[in-house]
Amino acid sequence: MSRRCVVLIGMMGAGKTEVGTLLAEELGYEYLDTDEVVSERAGKSIPKIFAEDGEKVFRELEAEAVRDLVGRRSLVVATGGGAPVDPENARILRALGTVVYLKASAIELYQRIKNDKGRPLLQVENPKGEMAKLLALREPVYKDVADFMMDTEELSVDEVVAELIDELARRTIETQGDE
Ligand code: S3P
Repeated sequence: MSRRCVVLIGMMGAGKTEVGTLLAEELGYEYLDTDEVVSERAGKSIPKIFAEDGEKVFRELEAEAVRDLVGRRSLVVATGGGAPVDPENARILRALGTVVYLKASAIELYQRIKNDKGRPLLQVENPKGEMAKLLALREPVYKDVADFMMDTEELSVDEVVAELIDELARRTIETQGDE
């Protein structure tokens, strides 16, 4: 592998954290989660930031966490679902290395996280509908920002990681062939 970063993007429930943690282990890379950075810096949980300071402050902290990644190597980065929507975040994430969109349907995403109270954007009357709405808005951005996408709908975390490693290796070999 080229030691450039691997950046995971996609909706809440896409598996970025679990896949990212395992992928980092397998590649011998460091794992970094932008939500964790934001939460550590703010000294409070993501739901608390949203409740006490609002989404705008959260997005500013998120952008700061992304900016701090510039120049890093050998990292697997799990991003918050909204991070790539900001064009400057997207530009920085793309410059870091390979960006992968972990894809699943709105129904599957909802099933995976419906009992999790840690997603402030889904604490609404119709979380299922909100998930579908957000996915429809964001999917074109995810596709545009990502180098490739992986459909995780029917795959376990282990299977996603194994497929990712294969695909990343294939792309590294192809890139070396181009040099
Ligand atoms: C958000 C996703 C969350 C977190 C915040 C906002 C979003 O991260 O950043 O609640 O805008 O989709 P996960 O994608 O890790 O759940």
